[in-house]
Amino acid sequence: MTAADTGRVGSGESQTPAHTVDLADPATFANHDLTGFWQQLRDEEPIHWNPPTAGRRGFWVVSRYADILDVYRDDVTFTSERGNVLVTLLAGGDAGAGRMLAVTDGPRHAELRKLLLRALGPRVLAPVCAAVRTNTRQMIREAVTKGECDFASDIASRIPMMTISNLLGVPDADRAFLLSLTKTALSADDESISETESAMARNEILLYFQDLMEFRRDHPGEDVVSMLVNSSIDGAPLSDDDIVLNCYSLIIGGDETSRLTMIDSVNTLAAHPQQWRRLKDGQCEIDKAVDEVLRWASPSMHFGRVAARDTILHGVRIRADDIVTLWHASGNRDERVFHRPEVFDLGRTPNRHLSFGHGPHYCIGSYLAKVEISELLIALRDLTSGFETTGEPQRIRSNLLTGFATMPVRFVPDRAGLARDALDG
Ligand code: HEM
Repeated sequence: MTAADTGRVGSGESQTPAHTVDLADPATFANHDLTGFWQQLRDEEPIHWNPPTAGRRGFWVVSRYADILDVYRDDVTFTSERGNVLVTLLAGGDAGAGRMLAVTDGPRHAELRKLLLRALGPRVLAPVCAAVRTNTRQMIREAVTKGECDFASDIASRIPMMTISNLLGVPDADRAFLLSLTKTALSADDESISETESAMARNEILLYFQDLMEFRRDHPGEDVVSMLVNSSIDGAPLSDDDIVLNCYSLIIGGDETSRLTMIDSVNTLAAHPQQWRRLKDGQCEIDKAVDEVLRWASPSMHFGRVAARDTILHGVRIRADDIVTLWHASGNRDERVFHRPEVFDLGRTPNRHLSFGHGPHYCIGSYLAKVEISELLIALRDLTSGFETTGEPQRIRSNLLTGFATMPVRFVPDRAGLARDALDG
């Protein structure tokens, strides 16, 4: 009998054999606590085979931190050009391969990344980060003064989109339209939206950026679209497709993950009053708190690669063309790396979590995401004495992302903090 035959999902009495757990099925994450399943895989079968189901291919599941790093580091053996998340890996590829940063490898990836990193440099980011601070504080002040809000829709869904729109120089008048498109294109929380509607919305976003790109050719600004329009690799300007696809990828990369982390941070702090007290009383560094919030939330549960050639991973033979998925949801709880990983500890150090990936494709928006989360924690610390969730939050349904679509919250105002803020403001 293999470990897969004996593996169990969940903990306690409600256990299910590991080989019946299908990690491609979003319902798996909606209906189960997988803590025990991950623990079992890490201990007994760190390179696990998720068998084919419902016409879908099978794939490898990597659950230990060290093995995840090994795959992330080696973009020659493990390519991103055939997709980097289950949905594209199982579909056989990504239409942006070789042009969109996340699904491009080799020298082209390195050049494109250098360019985008320059476009996300201090000159562009300084005003964007200043706006994050002002807007976040204002939203939290309003919510705290009012006493209650749905943190997900009233605050968390507005900050990342506003930030990326500022970054990309989306004119104010277009933002509501673009937000409605991204919600339809990307949202994992509304089952009433059909795949056709989502595909049409994704197409409209591409068309939108095509128009914005053409506008910026004649009216350049200090934004990422203008920079890309004026950029070249090896003397050749970026093609229209390159520009449009990479703008699109900044929206895809930067919206939901940041939003879900912020929602999770409020839920987790409400459930851990001692940690909230540490934050409120200034007994932990904000940077450390942000990293723990990111480790705890692990908003993107996995990323993945395709083996470009036969190889051995942790003693297991992986064949060329096999899909290999890397589970942050497990690696960020690996007791071989994190002391008492099941404890939420805002002062945790060291904390080299996997939430932004690792190696050549390490998230290029990590700085911005950390600014968004830290401004949220600072605003909560300064303006509220405490908060609680007031209803059952609704989970999103996805095999990639984890978190909540709703989060009803009641705040206790910090009157002195609000008064200080009004004076400063
Ligand atoms: C890459 C997570 C925020 C843009 C990645 C990767 C992860 C990740 C795990 C690696 C993917 C891979 O190796 O295949 C996150 C999380 C975020 C976040 C958890 C927030 C909490 C952002 C933001 C932006 C962004 C704000 C845009 C401003 C990107 C892009 C890549 C990327 C373009 C591709 C990088 C490359 O392939 O070289 N992100 N991200 N992300 N992220 Fe983020």
